[in-house]
This record gives sequence, C-alpha cells and structure tokens, in this order.
Amino acid sequence: MSVVVAPSILSADFTAIGDALQRIEQSGAQWVHLDVMDGHFVPNLTFGPKMVADIRARTKLPLDVHLMVERPEDLLDQYVEAGADFVTFHLEAAVHAHRLVQRVHAAGAGCGIAIVPSTPVTALEHLLEDLELILVMTVNPGFGGQALIPECVEKVRRLAQMRSQRRARFRLSADGGVNAETAAELRAAGIDVLVSGSTFFKSADPAQEVVQLQGQQIA
Ligand code: DX5
Ligand code: ZN
Repeated sequence: MSVVVAPSILSADFTAIGDALQRIEQSGAQWVHLDVMDGHFVPNLTFGPKMVADIRARTKLPLDVHLMVERPEDLLDQYVEAGADFVTFHLEAAVHAHRLVQRVHAAGAGCGIAIVPSTPVTALEHLLEDLELILVMTVNPGFGGQALIPECVEKVRRLAQMRSQRRARFRLSADGGVNAETAAELRAAGIDVLVSGSTFFKSADPAQEVVQLQGQQIA
C-alpha cells in the first residue's frame, strides 16, 4: 500500500481555497489536511468549522482535521458535524484523552491523537488500540515552512514497532518539514501518511511532488 499524501491548505492562498482543492485533487494526493489553530495552543490562528464544512461540500477526499487548540473537548463535535473524516487533537491539550477518543467515535469520525516533539511516544501507550491515527509532529506546531527535527523520525520508528507488537491498527502520520529527502527517511521508519504544506504548494508540478513523496517514479 502506498503512502498517503495529505496536502495542508495552511500553505495555500486563503483567498483561493477552491483553487487549492483543485490542485490537490488533480495531483493525485489522497487526503486533505486542515490545520485548525486557536491562537492559544499555538501562536497562530487559522479557521474554524465553517471552513471545514465548505470544503466538505467541494470535495469527496477524506478530510484530516488537525486541531491545534486548547480545550479540544469544547470543539470536537463541531468538526465531526462539519464533515471531518478524521479528527485529531493534541495529547498535550487533553486531560481525559481516552474519553475524547470515545466522543469522536460516538460522533462518527475516525480519531487521531497528535504529539509535539517534546512528548515521548510512551505517553500514548495506553491509547494505541483505540486510535485510527497517530500524528507525530516533526516540527513545533504553529507554522508551515519549518525544518523537520531529525530526532522525531525515531519516534515514528518506535511507534511503528509498538503498533506491530500490540497489533494495533492506527495509521502513522508525520506533519512538518516533509520534503523529498525527509519523506524517504519517514517511509523507512514506517510512516503511512505524509502531511505536506509548503513543499506541495510551492511545487511547479504537484502530481510529481506526490509521487516523489510516495517514493515512486513517474511513469
Ligand atoms: C504545522 C502544521 C502543518 C503545516 C506543515 O503546525 O500542523 O500541517 O501545514 O507545513 P510544512 O509542510 O510547510 O512544514
Ligand atoms: Zn497539521
């Protein structure tokens, strides 16, 4: 199974989101990654559930909503209702993470948990069987265009090992600083989903960018 590429519209022109979706669909990328930032959990602000609902109306691609917010318990349901296929919240923002996972499932979406670079993978140990997605932040969250922190690749490798030992079913996603070079390292570590913001939106040939991130050759 080839790696899923999930372009992040954070790096798109916010006055032309329709064009960004068209670019994603035409590139062959499989998911759309939506970065919700609240100006508190991270020092940046993006958009809310209406953007997710409007995008839902425009594409059939799975919507991968990444909540970089404090108090995710107050917001989760709105994003499921808006049409998210996966709702991912940060472990660092959740006291009762297991309860929130159950809430997302009851609302009808797949659930992901994200960890920032300073959070060890062992913090997720008790949740592995309950999740559809684990998102390893490979930069400090808040902005696109940062360089991947090399130590985070090892966290992906550890989580892939834990997954096979525990026979868990979650997909492993990496977010931040993904480019052709770092994608190769992440694939070797066992990644399933590569989020790509600036690399994808800066590319002159998005379709080629996708196959390159997947480690395939263009026919
Ligand atoms: C960063 C966001 C990422 C961001 C990645 O906080 O969570 O999804 O869009 O952007 P690049 O690929 O430019 O690092
Ligand atoms: Zn993200």
